[in-house]
Amino acid sequence: MSNTPKRSDGRRPRRPMSPLRARSARRSAARPHAAPHDRFFRQIVGSMRNGVIAIHRDGTVALMNDEAYRIFGLTRKAGDLGRPFSDVLRKRPAIIRVLSGAFELSHLPNRAELRMRDLDRVVGYTLSQVMDDDGTSIGAAMFFKDLTLVEQREESERLRNRLASLGEMAAGIAHELKNPLAGIEVMAGLLRRQVPDSKDAQSLLADILSEAKLANKIVVEMLEFVRPVRLQVERTDVAGVLQQAVSMAESKTSRGNVLVDIDVEPKLAIECDDHQLSQVFTNLIANAFEALEGKGRLGITAVSKIVEGDPAFAGAAPTPTPMIIIDVADDGPGLKVELIDKIFDPFFTTKPQGSGLGLAIVRKIVDAHDGRIDVSSTPGVGTRFRVTLPVSSASGWFK
Ligand SMILES: Nc1ncnc2c1ncn2[C@@H]1O[C@H](COP(=O)(O)OP(=O)(O)OP(=O)(O)O)[C@@H](O)[C@H]1O
Ligand SMILES: [Mg+2]
Repeated sequence: MSNTPKRSDGRRPRRPMSPLRARSARRSAARPHAAPHDRFFRQIVGSMRNGVIAIHRDGTVALMNDEAYRIFGLTRKAGDLGRPFSDVLRKRPAIIRVLSGAFELSHLPNRAELRMRDLDRVVGYTLSQVMDDDGTSIGAAMFFKDLTLVEQREESERLRNRLASLGEMAAGIAHELKNPLAGIEVMAGLLRRQVPDSKDAQSLLADILSEAKLANKIVVEMLEFVRPVRLQVERTDVAGVLQQAVSMAESKTSRGNVLVDIDVEPKLAIECDDHQLSQVFTNLIANAFEALEGKGRLGITAVSKIVEGDPAFAGAAPTPTPMIIIDVADDGPGLKVELIDKIFDPFFTTKPQGSGLGLAIVRKIVDAHDGRIDVSSTPGVGTRFRVTLPVSSASGWFK
């Protein structure tokens, strides 16, 4: 028989309160107006530059601040609080998985990273259980930060370091090669004149000359690639740069019957080095022509967009930055997934006559303009390069 004392009403007595809980209960009883504290608490959470989401033990949402909505790419709805988190975060299954583990895992992650592929966003988070005064778990909280920009910057930094050492070596080799190559060209030219009647010799010498020219092109591009970018910044008309790039790409490679569609927002201007920027688009357009092999369509679009700054890099408040987004999209053969990570590497090429420096130069120039370049490609459907550039840059013009 149980010897638990029964109360006169037959119900079991309540568990005794812990001293801490008793103190806080006394405090709230003595405080008739808890509202200002609640408001202050809400405002702390609301003003935080980290995302916060907290759930009750029954899986309903207890709070979710604005930054959380922003990072998850969701819009706040009136009835979100109190609804199951799996409902509110329906579009973000990766977050649902993390929160679902909150009551099951014995060790909750303190510094973990999560990649939201659909949003192309990386989040660093901490997960903790919310404990009652007597140590009972009554919910869970996830604190997180958008690490997308941090990651991009680290990647650019890694690339810059890799290129710096590679560049030093390449500059040395290119320099040494330039003179003997010029010598080969000159001597093959002289020899050509000495054997005007020998067809075989003429054809061999023509091959020597064209190979020497190709080698020379690689050397010139290599030197261009390793040379530090010095930008001469001017206000530039975007449509003009793109038109010029199409003509230059046409003179560099064969366009054939490719249809070129240019659609630029009216009066779009950017502070940039127009010569270098036109080189960026010349290389992208030439690649598209080469991929299209004389048929298909090339679409070039340019629009402006205000991009919210990342609070991690801003001062008191994130500053919205006007950016220009330029897409160069072809409906060519596309790229195999395993090649996408390699195409920006210097000397990576799939073409017999390519030097593989075109995209490496593109990336370097875009980087010097504080911009970024992204590629998306589907085999059999096409490839799109997206260049995102600040309309004006306050820093880093001379890299
Ligand atoms: N629009 C595109 N469609 C398909 N593949 C592409 C496209 N653009 C680039 N590539 C791939 O990326 C590789 C690297 O391009 P990159 O411009 O750096 O060098 P390249 O064109 O081969 O040589 P070059 O130095 O003469 O430009 C190409 O060889 C090609 O395989
Ligand atoms: Mg190229």
